[in-house]
Amino acid sequence: MIELEAVCKTYRADGVAVQALRDVSLRIDEGEFVALMGASGSGKSTLLTVLGAMNPPTGGQVTIDGIEPYSLPVERQADFRHEYVGFIFQQYHLVPYLTALENVMLPLTIGSGSRREKRQLAHDALARVQLSGKENRLPAQLSGGEQARVAAARALVNRPPLLLADEPTGNLDSATGGLVLDLLAGLHRAGQTIVMVTHDRQAASYAQRIVRLRDGSVEPPEPSAPTPG
Ligand SMILES: Nc1ncnc2c1ncn2[C@@H]1O[C@H](COP(=O)(O)OP(=O)(O)OP(=O)(O)O)[C@@H](O)[C@H]1O
Ligand SMILES: [Mg+2]
Repeated sequence: MIELEAVCKTYRADGVAVQALRDVSLRIDEGEFVALMGASGSGKSTLLTVLGAMNPPTGGQVTIDGIEPYSLPVERQADFRHEYVGFIFQQYHLVPYLTALENVMLPLTIGSGSRREKRQLAHDALARVQLSGKENRLPAQLSGGEQARVAAARALVNRPPLLLADEPTGNLDSATGGLVLDLLAGLHRAGQTIVMVTHDRQAASYAQRIVRLRDGSVEPPEPSAPTPG
């Protein structure tokens, strides 16, 4: 489903070049649940946003479902993102003065369909994350775990083939984080492709496969048995 071929990303800030991704080649199949791990600054968020068609690489090729999003004209890139990718940001980015339902409806504003249909889709998405009955709460009236689930519902309301999550449990205690991970695991069982950034080994254990980054490069998979010395 996703193929990265020798992807590089160099940021330039204040005349300094930072190589955030170096020659990353990676394949993620449809229906996989992949955890991205690595130290702070190793390039995880960069890789996730490159995968999500929101951050053009400075080298190499990204192909999603046979489409090269970065070769599309910029407006088509936005359409592609809208159709293909749901993103859960680390800080959730819920709009504080909109209710849970209205937050979930945000990605639908640019699509076709009546307001009534959109409300129904948002209701359904909130039901999928077990938040029925809390549609009219503001984010501040929800717990951290509930806010994470609103962010998940918003990412999923368009039924995107690809779900990306940047530290979805980063701000949560382990019990609440566990609920969010159970939710992701359930989506995965239902066929959802998921790539999740996490620092946490326990969280990563919910994934099928762990990809480790180090200084912008993918580390070779760990051997199954520890090597002596
Ligand atoms: N917009 C930017 N401009 C310049 N440098 C950037 C930019 N975004 C990220 N970087 C740099 O690129 C490198 C990789 O950053 P990235 O955010 O991908 O790391 P990360 O693995 O997600 O780290 P963390 O675990 O702290 O979130 C870092 O050295 C960072 O300082
Ligand atoms: Mg990050």
